Amino acid sequence: MSADRKHFSPSARFLHWLMAPLVIAMLFIGVGMVATLSSWHQTLLAIHKPLGIAILVLVSVRFIVRLTHRAPPLPDDMPHWQQHIAHLSHWVFYALLFAMPLVGWSMLSAGGFPIHLFGPVNLPPIVPQDVRLYAVLRSAHTVLALLLFATFLAHLGAALFHGLIRRDGVFSSMAKGRD
Ligand code: HEM
Ligand code: HEM
Repeated sequence: MSADRKHFSPSARFLHWLMAPLVIAMLFIGVGMVATLSSWHQTLLAIHKPLGIAILVLVSVRFIVRLTHRAPPLPDDMPHWQQHIAHLSHWVFYALLFAMPLVGWSMLSAGGFPIHLFGPVNLPPIVPQDVRLYAVLRSAHTVLALLLFATFLAHLGAALFHGLIRRDGVFSSMAKGRD
């Protein structure tokens, strides 16, 4: 297998491993939040909003890093359809990482709810107040979260397949600086 496969840039790797636990935590915080009416609901929501906006900032930086640093090519001996799916899934990830926080922010705007982050920091509404729009965006937030979770599971499976079975340098291209 291609032992000389290049790795992702340090900034890409740093952002990948910073964001991976944050995004997974957000999915579980979201599900935990809607599963309870106790005081935990408010506590989790108070974490969910600023963390979601932090993810929006991080993915914006990461997207610029992605466009300015070449990603290492996938191994030549990997079937083309698998290469296409791998690339597609990465762009789906980027799209969802932008969409989730923007839909969350928009839905609270449409519902007329305050978008309090921390201390005195509040975000302004980004869409007009409209109860029907709120309903659409609230459902979209759930559906996109399910899609993000499914993409993550497929991604984890593929990463383990590369790391444990194919051992072709794909896993270490993101996991460490050298193969
Ligand atoms: C990567 C970013 C985000 C992820 C992965 C995420 C994920 C989730 C998930 C899984 C749920 C539960 C959905 C359900 O079962 O219906 C949820 C609900 C929610 N999210 Fe997010 N979210 C993100 C960003 C945001 C942002 C930025 C905001 C607002 C500024 C936000 C506001 C909300 C609200 C208000 C709820 C519903 C709470 C309720 O109905 O009690 N989310 N989110
Ligand atoms: C914790 C389990 C995870 C593992 C083991 C893992 C592993 C990897 C590996 C090995 C690559 C390189 C693939 C390639 O060369 O094509 C990669 C890329 C990528 N991963 Fe993950 N990942 C994990 C979680 C996540 C999560 C939660 C996200 C979503 C935020 C994510 C988003 C991405 C993206 C967008 C890329 C493409 C990088 C680029 O082209 O800029 N990963 N991951």
